Amino acid sequence: MKARGAAATPNEGSSGMSERKKLTLPALYEKMAAGVPLTMVTCYDYPMAYLIEEAGVDIVLVGDSLGMTILGYDSTLPVTMEDMIRHAQAVRRGTPNAWLVGDMPYMSYQASDESAVLNAGRFMAEAGCDAVKLEGGREMADRVRAVTRAGIPVMGHLGLTPQSAASLGGFRLQGKSAAQAKKIVDDADALVEAGCVAILLELVPDRVCGLITERTGVPIISLGSGPHAHGQLLIFHDMFGLYPKFTPKMAKKYGDAGKVIADGLRQYVAEVTGGVFPEPERYFGMKDQEYEELLKMLEREGKR
Ligand code: KIV
Repeated sequence: MKARGAAATPNEGSSGMSERKKLTLPALYEKMAAGVPLTMVTCYDYPMAYLIEEAGVDIVLVGDSLGMTILGYDSTLPVTMEDMIRHAQAVRRGTPNAWLVGDMPYMSYQASDESAVLNAGRFMAEAGCDAVKLEGGREMADRVRAVTRAGIPVMGHLGLTPQSAASLGGFRLQGKSAAQAKKIVDDADALVEAGCVAILLELVPDRVCGLITERTGVPIISLGSGPHAHGQLLIFHDMFGLYPKFTPKMAKKYGDAGKVIADGLRQYVAEVTGGVFPEPERYFGMKDQEYEELLKMLEREGKR
């Protein structure tokens, strides 16, 4: 099975921020129904969000992966709601028109329905998100129901769920055996039944992703789960060589911004230490008369 609508039309207004229309949930479903593959990337800050808006990306995830990509932790677990809200606000300012998903960090929803609703509500009220994402299957159905009942759209996240990497045996392919794959299919059904409006499938075999795409009726987004989905997600820092520790196999590099920046910084150090920077055109002078007057003033006060 191939992803439908291979001859995709880009978002309206992908040529510029001002021409683009706000992507709503119904519009997202229309795209899915028309077979137009959906694009999704992670984003954590204003300048990148601005570029993402310009490129016409459909869905932007402010992922708790920012714990690793931005804050330098070894996992996503230390990320707080305050971290997420601050970054989601910045991203929203850069991309007013993408469908913005706030990723619920570790322990912001696991403990109770009430904590899930209150924290999901913060993403909507304080950061202007269009939806929230939370990790987990059947065991999270009650949370999904509670947040949905509060009028907040929820994206589910199955397969490799980084917040439970410890119990999944690390960052590895999920659903390799028939029994494990069946559990993921059942989890997807449970999430849809509970009200999820979309599901992200991370690192599951392509045909398992295809089966779920065929059966659920909600947009299925693949991260490393192959082409048989309604859309694709990539982690921004993997796409552009900005995460120094590792690049997962599923990531495709679309540019090496990390190298561009590293080269530029090395050149800057060489130019400053070599007396090349700043060049005369990059700073400002002062009229001789004013400068001489300044010297006299300093002399009068014994400061020279
Ligand atoms: O935080 C994140 O960026 C995510 C992706 C790994 C899907 O949840």
